[in-house]
Amino acid sequence: MSEIRVGILGLGTIGLGAARILIEQQSLMARRLGKTLRLVAAADRSLERDFGLDLSSVRLSDDANDIVTADDIDLVIELIGGYEPARSFVATAIEHGKHVVTANKALIAKHGEELLPLAEKHGVAIGFEAAVGGGIPCLKALREGLAANAVESVYGILNGTCNFILTKMENEGADYADVLKEAQELGYAEADPTFDVEGIDTAHKLSILASMSFGSKIKFDEVFTEGISKITAADIGAVADLGYRIKLLGIAKPHCVDGESKIEMRVHPTLVPLSAQMAQVSDSYNAVMVSGDFVEHTVYTGRGAGERPTASAVIADVMDIARICSVDGGVKYLAPPMGYVAPERQDVATLPMADVHSEYYLRFMVQDEPGVIAAISSILADHRISLEAVSQKERHATHAVAVIMLTHGTTEGNLQAAMSRIIALPSVQEDVLILRKESFGV
Ligand code: HSE
Repeated sequence: MSEIRVGILGLGTIGLGAARILIEQQSLMARRLGKTLRLVAAADRSLERDFGLDLSSVRLSDDANDIVTADDIDLVIELIGGYEPARSFVATAIEHGKHVVTANKALIAKHGEELLPLAEKHGVAIGFEAAVGGGIPCLKALREGLAANAVESVYGILNGTCNFILTKMENEGADYADVLKEAQELGYAEADPTFDVEGIDTAHKLSILASMSFGSKIKFDEVFTEGISKITAADIGAVADLGYRIKLLGIAKPHCVDGESKIEMRVHPTLVPLSAQMAQVSDSYNAVMVSGDFVEHTVYTGRGAGERPTASAVIADVMDIARICSVDGGVKYLAPPMGYVAPERQDVATLPMADVHSEYYLRFMVQDEPGVIAAISSILADHRISLEAVSQKERHATHAVAVIMLTHGTTEGNLQAAMSRIIALPSVQEDVLILRKESFGV
C-alpha cells in the first residue's frame, strides 16, 4: 500500500489533535483510502513539554523550515495560525512541491489570492475546510454538494467564543466582561480576544464563504465588521421581550446594481427571531445557512472550534488530497479549491454598506423629559424611516432612560444620516446602540 508522508507545523491544540488522528486512526483511514497516511515530522517552537501523545516515531524540530523544505514530506499541515510566519511557511512548502492543508482562516482570508494561484502554478493542492466552521464540513457542502446552484444568501454563526458569550449572557443575565473572563478561563477565547469578540474572526470566515459562494475574489478587508463588545445584558433582555435573540452573524448576498454585480458582506450582532433555526444554535456551536436557487435553504451546524472537531476537518482534507493523488500521481481536484475554475473567479465589487437594506433595533439613552421620543420620531419620519415598535425602560441612577425602537426597512446610509441628527439632540446621550435585524428570507 502506498503512503502519503505528512508534516505538521505547530503542535498546539489543533496540531496535537491532527497528530492524534494520524496516529490513532491510521488503520481506519487506510481502509477508507486504500493508502496509508504517515506522520513523518512535526515542528513547534517549544518541544520541551509533555504532548500527551507518543510522538517517538515522529521527527521533531523547532524550525518549521525543516518541514517545508524536507524531501521526505508530501503534505504539510499548517496549524501555526495568524498571518505571518504562516504565510511564508505555506508559500515555501508550495514552492517545494508540497500539498498544504490549513485551519488558518486569517491566512486564507488575507493571503488566499496569493497562495491559491501559487498552489495551482506548482501543481499542488491546498485544503482549508477547518478554516470555516471548525468540524462542520460546510465548505465541502458549498463547493461540491451545492455546485449546481446559484447561491442566493449565506448566513453564518461562525465564532464559537462569541456564541458562547451571548448564550451565557442571555441565560444568566450576566454582563459581557464577566462572561468573557469565563470564556477565557475555559479556553474558548484567546488571551487576546479581539479577533473573536470584535468580529474579525467571523469576517475572515465570511470572506472565504462569500468567495466560494459567488465565484469572486476574497475581499476580507472590505467586510463591514462590528463585534459584540458593546452589547449589555439589558440589551439582550430588551431584545428577548421583543421576540428576538442576538447572534453575531456573518451575512453575504449577491446583488445586481445597474447591471453591475456587487456582493454584500457584513458581520455584526443581529436580531434573529426566536423561532428561527439560527436562534437555536447556542454555546460554542457554529451554523452556516446557505440558500441556493434550486436547493432552497440548507443549514449545517456543529462544533465550530476545539481540538477534536477542527482536527477532524483538517484530516478530512488530507484524505481528500491523498485520494486524488492516488488516481494518477498528479493533482486533479474533484472541485477547484474555491469551487470555480481559476479564470472564472472574478473581481466583484463589494456593495457599499450605505446601500445595504435592513430593519433596525435602536437603543438610545436619553434624559427623561417631555418631547424626547417625539423629537427622535420626528427625525426618523423626516428620513422616511417607519417604526414597528417603541418602548421605554426604567430610569437609571444617572436619570437616563433607555428608549428602544424597532424600525421597518431602510438603507444603512439613510439610517446613519438620521442617527447623526438624533445624536446631536441635547437630550440624547452618545452611547447609542444600533443592531440590524434578519428574517433569513424564510
Ligand atoms: N476562536 C475561534 C472561535 C476558533 O471562537 O470560533 C475557531 O476558528
